[in-house]
Amino acid sequence: MLDVDRVRADFPILGTKVNGRSLVYFDNSATAQKPVQVMDAVREAYMVHNSNIHRGVHHLSDVMSGLYEDARNKVAKFINAREEEVLFTAGTTQGINMLAACLAESEIGKGDVVLLSEMEHHSNIIPWQMACAKVGASIRVLPIKDDGSISIDGLSDILDEKVKLLAISQVSNVLGMVNPIKKITQACHENGTLVMVDGAQSVPHLKTDVKELDCDFLVFSGHKLHAETGIGVLFGKKDLLEELPPTQGGGGMVDKVTMTSSTYAEVPQRFESGTPNYVGAISLAAAIDYMMSLGMDDIIEHEKVLNGEMMRSLGRIEGVTVYGDGAERCPIYSFNIRGLHPYDIGQILDKMGIAVRTGNHCAQPLMARLGISGTVRASLSFYNTVEEISDFIDGLEKAVSILE
Ligand code: ALA
Repeated sequence: MLDVDRVRADFPILGTKVNGRSLVYFDNSATAQKPVQVMDAVREAYMVHNSNIHRGVHHLSDVMSGLYEDARNKVAKFINAREEEVLFTAGTTQGINMLAACLAESEIGKGDVVLLSEMEHHSNIIPWQMACAKVGASIRVLPIKDDGSISIDGLSDILDEKVKLLAISQVSNVLGMVNPIKKITQACHENGTLVMVDGAQSVPHLKTDVKELDCDFLVFSGHKLHAETGIGVLFGKKDLLEELPPTQGGGGMVDKVTMTSSTYAEVPQRFESGTPNYVGAISLAAAIDYMMSLGMDDIIEHEKVLNGEMMRSLGRIEGVTVYGDGAERCPIYSFNIRGLHPYDIGQILDKMGIAVRTGNHCAQPLMARLGISGTVRASLSFYNTVEEISDFIDGLEKAVSILE
């Protein structure tokens, strides 16, 4: 089992006092905290190795280029991909925008359909709306059931020859439930439909194996995985990436350039124009090293304990509605209490040093489906404890008594 006290010592920010109380950080879906091991790796990168990559013959450039490609290799192993299938991006949002723009130049055309689940974050809706508008394609919605789950039968009914791509989160940032991606990709592939998985909320909590999921593309962010902000990953199956036209030109992504035309480098460099966030990539590698040193199995076991405790404790609060009701879930809990405003609850919790998020969580269509304008969201990570859940529930009860 995870030695949580020892783990917490790696995250100095968890010792912060907020409003005179020990911080309870339950906003990990927005961003996760960084261990000293990641911060040390970033500091070392700037103190000892800093130089732009791939364009120098000198020692530092050579070392930094090696560290950048090592980071790619580490990410590839972490998600069971090949090295050349891992593209570094600025984060999930940029990854989806980049993919949508590339597909609008190739796979998605006039009259085609992009299928989106009803639970998507705005970042997995708007880039597809933009791409569809550009080429004359349209959006189709994969509805969710009342419990927040996806119906595989419903998916088969909705697929037809026009549906070129399904974009879906493995775990919704609101509902926390794990979608059955393997079954979804199977149904989509039988129809000739590509699948892009938004792994922003799942990769930090689950073992990710792109081969097993058989997804065509997967995106995720470093900062939710305990790395720096401004770094992320777009995985794509090699044969698909090789067919995609790059949509951003610049240094580093070319082979031969004349004043009137250019040929492009191989994947992945073809999609990484300009100076990439190489220190961010090093921080991501350090975060992956850190998580592997704890062990994903132990992380998952501990988060199961937190899940059980959250479900039991929240269920004891009178008038609570928790959105998303799945057996397999990540520690992300969105809820409302008897018509109390989420913002008011969040503000009172903050007075007690408890950090949660309130609002629509960039998922307005999901809020519309649920018939609400927002929720309180508590999102946990492996460094959170059962004692913190107890403080959170005490805080929540106090907030309810004040607001009532
Ligand atoms: N997408 C992040 C969240 O859900 C910011 O909070």
